Amino acid sequence: MELNKTYQDIECIDLNTDFQGIAFIDNKKVFIENFLPDEIADVKVTTIKSKFAKGEVKTFKQKSPMREGSLQSEQPYAYFGGCDLQTLNYDSQLKIKKQLTEKTAKLQDRNTQYVFDAVEASPKQTHYRNKIHYQLYFDPFDAVIKAGFFLKGTKKLVEVKENILADEKIVKILPKVLLKLNEHQIKIANIKEQVQGLKAVMFRWSETKKQMMVIFVATTKNIKKIERVAKELVRENNVIKSVYLNINGKNQGSILGRQMLLLAGKEAIQDELLGMNFNIPATAFYQVNAPQTAKIYQHVLDIIAADKKATVIDFYCGIGTMTNLIAPQVHKAIGIDIVEESINAAKQNAIINNIANSEFVAEDVNTFIQEYKKVDASLIAIIDPPRSGCTPEFIEKLTELNPDKVIYISCNPKTLITDLKAFNERGFEHEEIKLYDMFPQTLHVESVVLLSRVQK
Ligand SMILES: C[S@@+](CC[C@H](N)C(=O)[O-])C[C@H]1O[C@@H](n2cnc3c(N)ncnc32)[C@H](O)[C@@H]1O
Repeated sequence: MELNKTYQDIECIDLNTDFQGIAFIDNKKVFIENFLPDEIADVKVTTIKSKFAKGEVKTFKQKSPMREGSLQSEQPYAYFGGCDLQTLNYDSQLKIKKQLTEKTAKLQDRNTQYVFDAVEASPKQTHYRNKIHYQLYFDPFDAVIKAGFFLKGTKKLVEVKENILADEKIVKILPKVLLKLNEHQIKIANIKEQVQGLKAVMFRWSETKKQMMVIFVATTKNIKKIERVAKELVRENNVIKSVYLNINGKNQGSILGRQMLLLAGKEAIQDELLGMNFNIPATAFYQVNAPQTAKIYQHVLDIIAADKKATVIDFYCGIGTMTNLIAPQVHKAIGIDIVEESINAAKQNAIINNIANSEFVAEDVNTFIQEYKKVDASLIAIIDPPRSGCTPEFIEKLTELNPDKVIYISCNPKTLITDLKAFNERGFEHEEIKLYDMFPQTLHVESVVLLSRVQK
């Protein structure tokens, strides 16, 4: 095999869990982006390592039917990253998600059979995200402020001309926000030249209440005229209900910094989910695909059913959405989250929905569980951790509390399998894993699984 050589008529035989096509050239395994099983192409070898190589498609000779009916967009997926499945039609996306999840499960744990249901389709396949952020930059050629995304795998900003994931309302409000920033000549940060200013803008949208939150992110709090921009945005656009300035001087890591200044409008926007209203503060976690979230929560409510003797602990509860929805059907519901603003919102959410039997604690679940004393005979646990999953100590302590049921909601099949294995070793068995497409066009998938103690 030669580096930079293009090999003719290479066939893709499979996909790896990162959605790269697998082919063999001179008996060496080659991973190739945007190359689907049964496709044939001329492939250029771009990297050679001892155990594998990497390549890129130069010319397709035969394309997969999975591409027929896929989205045709001006800025295809390869541009920004994230939308890896955009080149497939939606039915194929669902099939591929299931296949890759099964493959991940096998790689994580060869000794257990994990059974996955077909992936439940999302009610919306495009424009489903109620939250998104754009980088802001000053284009010296057009002399205007623009909104961009980083080109896949780089720090190069490219103007976003089309956004297939963001809610249509966000797509429509973006030019108005940019116009306002340009009108007032707001200073934009330039990391290279050490210029302080605005660097990003985040939007949150509630479709049920028609309310928008705009969060400007800046390297400093001294942004001249930003308050005027915020007040005018609220006055001139009746959907914009809240505008914040977030200060984040760091160049890496999460988009939002810790400091949040309310510039105009209300502190939080509100959304309705399964008949309850939820206040969503600026810094709190809230599921991005609301109609699909409703389906997942309904599934959890159905699993728990009416059980007036049970105490439910909703670990990693966010703003208490599930905790408050479940409370009316059980004896008591307790929600735990590490983010104080989320717990404050969860408490408010209990009040605005007249829920008297939910309680909330702002604490690390790992600390909470070490100190928790089981009082009621029947305990049901819900776990919805971040992508990193749970700690072994958490699982150990939870299983010692002997819950009747554990409902695990996961956004990362890899850590889900690691954690299921740990539950298994501690005498818990799981049922079929339900998969939900929370993030169409991307590789991400949400899983829900019920665990219970093995009956002896
Ligand atoms: C995937 S979100 C789930 C939120 C909620 N269940 C929902 O459906 O909206 C994970 C949540 O875990 C919280 N979190 C992360 N690490 C935590 C920890 N060690 N202890 C408690 N909460 C944590 C985050 O603040 C976030 O709200």
